[in-house]
Amino acid sequence: MTILLTGGTGKTASPLSKLLLQAKQPVVLATRSGKVPAPFSGVRFDWLDSSTYNIPFDAYSDIDRIYIVAPPVMDMFPPMKAFIDYAVERGVKRFVLLSAGVLEIGGPSMGKAHEYLDSLKVEYCALRPSWFIENFTTQYADLIKTRNEIVSATGDGLLGYVSTEDIADVAFKALVEEKIDNNNPIIVGPELVSYDQIADMLTEILGRKITHTKLTEAEFKKVLIGRGMPEDYAQMMTILDSVHVARGGEEQLFRRADVVGKRTLRAFLEARPVTVCP
Ligand SMILES: NC(=O)c1ccc[n+]([C@@H]2O[C@H](COP(=O)([O-])OP(=O)(O)OC[C@H]3O[C@@H](n4cnc5c(N)ncnc54)[C@H](OP(=O)(O)O)[C@@H]3O)[C@@H](O)[C@H]2O)c1
Repeated sequence: MTILLTGGTGKTASPLSKLLLQAKQPVVLATRSGKVPAPFSGVRFDWLDSSTYNIPFDAYSDIDRIYIVAPPVMDMFPPMKAFIDYAVERGVKRFVLLSAGVLEIGGPSMGKAHEYLDSLKVEYCALRPSWFIENFTTQYADLIKTRNEIVSATGDGLLGYVSTEDIADVAFKALVEEKIDNNNPIIVGPELVSYDQIADMLTEILGRKITHTKLTEAEFKKVLIGRGMPEDYAQMMTILDSVHVARGGEEQLFRRADVVGKRTLRAFLEARPVTVCP
């Protein structure tokens, strides 16, 4: 019985793959190239190329559980539906979908895949995490390094930043335990923080002044496009900042969370100051 992790070398699947390895669960990581770090086994799979959908199952005929990280495109449901249908045909019994706190079942993006899984006779869990702490070493790191700045359209909105290791803990249980306890868990980190507070935290940890610049929707969207994000995706991410977070949506999710992670943003940043240093 093998577990297939899509997004296999990504931010959430990386800690998840380590937990599975430690627990001696057979696991294979899917990426577009099929190349993955040792000691893992990799397999080629591209959400946007349906001729690759059979490759994992032909290589590992006993795949029965899949961790789904959605395709990185706005119109993600058609390939997700096609692959889920194919996987069910090939004997998959359980799916763990990485959705997002903000997305209710039937909502846009992963919300549609959540609804589709719910309509099938399969076991599933749709994880609904808050923003990832690890964004600080990826998309946010550049401006911190080059301009001592974090930018957002969140105003004074609060976020329950969560570690992908805490998300992986929940995904691990949903994949390996006999029964899925909660198939729709909202997962947050241990504390609510605003970007002003995060800028103060970074200032203290890095020993240089870091500023949170409060941008308008149009300014923030331009920054995202400048980071290489497609226009439609940048529009959606901007609305998440300027409407969902700024108006207290993440704060409300934090207050009704099912899982509160242990790892703090401060501990993460203190352990990796070099990733946000010039
Ligand atoms: N960041 C946040 O704060 C946040 C919060 C809530 C929810 N989410 C959701 O989390 C998801 C991202 O999860 P993540 O951060 O764990 O993943 P990630 O780090 O963005 O995923 C990268 C992985 O996906 C693979 N990949 C990229 N394009 C692919 C394609 N076309 N077909 C197959 N594999 C592909 C990459 O490998 P190759 O490049 O080698 O193919 C790599 O293994 C998104 O759906 C996002 O909406 C994010």
